[in-house]
Amino acid sequence: MRITYRRADNKEYWTKRWGDIPADLPMENANVYPLKYAQETVRSKNGVILEAGCGAGRILRYYHDRGYNIIGIDFIQGAITKLKKIDPTLKVEVGDITDMQFKDGAFKYILAFGLYHNLDGDNLEKAMRETSRVTEKGGEICASFRADNIQNRLNDWLEAHRSGHKKDDAKDKKFHKMNLTKSEFRKLFEKHGFKIKKVHTVVNMPLLYKFAFFRARDHKVFNENKARKEGYQLSFLGKLITSFLLKFFPNQFCNIYVLIAEKPKH
Ligand SMILES: C[S@@+](CC[C@H](N)C(=O)[O-])C[C@H]1O[C@@H](n2cnc3c(N)ncnc32)[C@H](O)[C@@H]1O
Repeated sequence: MRITYRRADNKEYWTKRWGDIPADLPMENANVYPLKYAQETVRSKNGVILEAGCGAGRILRYYHDRGYNIIGIDFIQGAITKLKKIDPTLKVEVGDITDMQFKDGAFKYILAFGLYHNLDGDNLEKAMRETSRVTEKGGEICASFRADNIQNRLNDWLEAHRSGHKKDDAKDKKFHKMNLTKSEFRKLFEKHGFKIKKVHTVVNMPLLYKFAFFRARDHKVFNENKARKEGYQLSFLGKLITSFLLKFFPNQFCNIYVLIAEKPKH
């Protein structure tokens, strides 16, 4: 377990990030994170889906447009307001994963991409208790978590270097994200009554994407909405290096773990 610190705390970070971009278009590329893993989990239109931490809405809109019964929550008001404006038929509301208003067992599927690593200590425990409470027996969850590994240490080092972050300066010591090893991530869900089906090692945003040189030709000029819709696409060389590292050192060169788990019927 390792904590990543930054200058802005977690809520400030998300407020600014979603304030800077319009609502997402529905995701298009089903071969990349997170849609690929959502599809491995949601296999039927029966039952209600919760997207916890829906952010700018790429997954929520994908399922909503295809007639699934999906509800989205996020703790950033600005993100919810933008989604409601772009599509008033979306079922989306401001909500916090640590304390939800939904009934016990309300959801057959929970999708939670990039959510739990925004929490630490007691809040992470509360979020897990709430998640387990609102999942129906026999229901499934798909969740990702930032990996505690070489790739994310490099990511954090690069970010600190670019922003002039000083390790010992109090103003640079705000909680940003939690990082867990694969076994810590599994244990977190097992402790809260889930049976793990699979944990994938995934590259969401490759480290090399941070350098324009390694990006695909039509991604050279960074456009966050485009990258979120299509996936963070690399050039041939960028892909080659990333897939080599992921093939031979998956736990050290993924940047997130994606877990699929079931809440047992008994
Ligand atoms: C990595 S983003 C993912 C957005 C979306 N799931 C996706 O994959 O495009 C994580 C989201 O979790 C939200 N979030 C963080 N802490 C939260 C909390 N305690 N309750 C609800 N949402 C939270 C953030 O505002 C952010 O939108």
